[in-house]
Amino acid sequence: MSKKILILPGDGIGQEVTSSAIQILEFIVDKFNLDFSTKILDVGGTAYEKFGSPIPEDVLVSAKEADAILFGAVGAPQWDNLSWEDRPENALLTLRKELNLFANLRPAFLFEELSNASPLKEKIIQGLDILIVRELTGGIYFGEPRGVVKDKNPNYAFNTMVYNEDEIRRIAKIAFESAQKRKGRLCSVEKANVLEVSKFWRSIVTEMSEDYPDVELSHQLADNAAMQLVLDPNQFDVIVASNLFGDILSDIAATLTGSIGMLPSASLDSSFKGMYEPCHGSAPDIAQQDIANPLAMIGSLSMALKYSLGEEMVASKIDLAIKNLIKQGFRTKDISNGENYLKTSEVAQKIIENIENE
Ligand code: IPM
Ligand code: MG
Repeated sequence: MSKKILILPGDGIGQEVTSSAIQILEFIVDKFNLDFSTKILDVGGTAYEKFGSPIPEDVLVSAKEADAILFGAVGAPQWDNLSWEDRPENALLTLRKELNLFANLRPAFLFEELSNASPLKEKIIQGLDILIVRELTGGIYFGEPRGVVKDKNPNYAFNTMVYNEDEIRRIAKIAFESAQKRKGRLCSVEKANVLEVSKFWRSIVTEMSEDYPDVELSHQLADNAAMQLVLDPNQFDVIVASNLFGDILSDIAATLTGSIGMLPSASLDSSFKGMYEPCHGSAPDIAQQDIANPLAMIGSLSMALKYSLGEEMVASKIDLAIKNLIKQGFRTKDISNGENYLKTSEVAQKIIENIENE
């Protein structure tokens, strides 16, 4: 049966980078005889302008039917003052929640040739290869009660950070198993020195570690982990964290690699259906100039092939093509010297040539 791929380009550079991914998708479908059906729909601010909602009903319906979703990016300042319901980011959070995409995998790795693009010294960053496993459908992002109270003096606003043990166990399981497939080290990050929910998190993860004797478990407080990521990132293999701490740490980790424009991500449910998106946002400041880096989106396509579409071999061909492109000296603007660089619209063709030549 054909596998269903839903493509949601979204806003800003989301549209440009997904168009690169679509070119590659069309190429591999043809070359490797893949049985995929694809559908492209508007989401985010673009959908709000056309249909009055950042996540129209048919997006949600098609998303639930899809095996994999390729999501570009959403948001731009002109929509910042809309009510939460109408904001582009609501599309992202609704998809995560409605599809139960609780496991967010955010790899941060350094391409050797790009080590001088990192803000850190080369000797600190050499060989960087971290996987952040972020809980994505719970914690303070979704906890109830939440709200703003405007008839008190002083007025106030509040959110709730809450995790039940099942939510902690299922994300920790993904993290332990990921560590088993990598270097066997897992660092769990929370604020157990302050928060009850973190202390609870730590106790569950510690208890689970008995089932994974081959994984070396450590714990770090979130503020310290942020510092350690910058001081000595190579101490980390897999990091597991709640929604909020994972959000913050994954931006730090991504930027260590020199460009957030290079890093893909996967958000998975328990049956490995998933949504795949670049770590970067919609970057409205550089949209429509043909200078965005589509490699994170192309890498996200590769993750989709690997985790949700059962095409690991094709995924590894794309990964190799990305590596070779960098080795051959091609750079997009964000990682170039500002003079010679590939335009967004030129990257897909170069990747395709590299796949042809592998
Ligand atoms: C991310 C983003 C989102 C988040 C925003 C856009 C809602 O920062 O995917 O990391 O906070 O999860
Ligand atoms: Mg973020």
